Amino acid sequence: LGVVVTACGSFDLGDEKPTEIAVDAENPNWNADIRPLMALKCMNCHATPAPRHAPKGTPVIALSSEGVFKQASMLNRIWTRVYNTPGKPMPPDYATPLSTAERIALKNYLASNGVDTRPSATPTPSGGGSHGGDTGGGEPTLSVAYGQSCVGCHAADGGGKDGNPNLKGTKLTEAAYKAKVRAGGGPMPPFDAGAISDADLAADWKILKAAK
Ligand code: HEC
Ligand code: HEC
Repeated sequence: LGVVVTACGSFDLGDEKPTEIAVDAENPNWNADIRPLMALKCMNCHATPAPRHAPKGTPVIALSSEGVFKQASMLNRIWTRVYNTPGKPMPPDYATPLSTAERIALKNYLASNGVDTRPSATPTPSGGGSHGGDTGGGEPTLSVAYGQSCVGCHAADGGGKDGNPNLKGTKLTEAAYKAKVRAGGGPMPPFDAGAISDADLAADWKILKAAK
């Protein structure tokens, strides 16, 4: 099985251009360095719906959600798998490796327990941290976790696509919205708190309910 997984992975990933994030290795910060790094080198496998090239059974972990990443247990799991599991490192051997600067930046960030030691960069249009809307200015944006787990079917603004329902102006109560996401239904898989937190669901619901 290991051989098959490895062969698949290198076949697909071998076609990707090697890319890296220009990180501040000594003073990494969430928005400028770590979140884009997770998006580029980790969420290419750990997202849901599972990316086409992700090995079968890849666990869904919302690593570019600030709330998920900064949990103490998650900081430990990442540390263990990236720096301390020589036989089965993350990213796996067959995937695009972290550059030296990226390895140092991530290590420093984990060592600081996910505390930003330099002021946050301007959030990107898709939202800074978990909720771009909280940081003031501009339109409120849906959570980063929404961007990882839901856009594929419900579109970036919640408008729906490919026959999947429009969530804008939702008539669901907050509780019903959360329950639907946790339970799934039809082609929609269930999502647990590791994929999208209750706080993110509550914030997204508020934005969607008000959206036209
Ligand atoms: C090419 C696909 C791929 C990439 C890229 C990748 N992973 Fe994984 N990851 C997997 C698979 C498959 C597993 C499950 C098998 C295993 O544990 O080795 C896994 C398991 C894990 C686990 C252990 C599962 C758990 O719940 O604790 C962690 C933590 C993890 N990955 C973190 C990362 C981080 C951080 C990155 C980026 C630096 C990353 N992964 C990049 C495929 C990938
Ligand atoms: C694979 C496609 C897919 C993904 C991914 C997906 N959904 Fe859905 N979603 C659907 C479909 C299809 C339905 C209608 C299913 C049903 O009615 O049981 C639905 C229904 C819903 C509903 C109920 C809408 C209503 O008015 O009844 C909500 C709320 C929802 N999705 C939110 C989410 C959120 C939040 C995420 C991400 C965490 C997500 N969905 C991810 C396909 C998807």
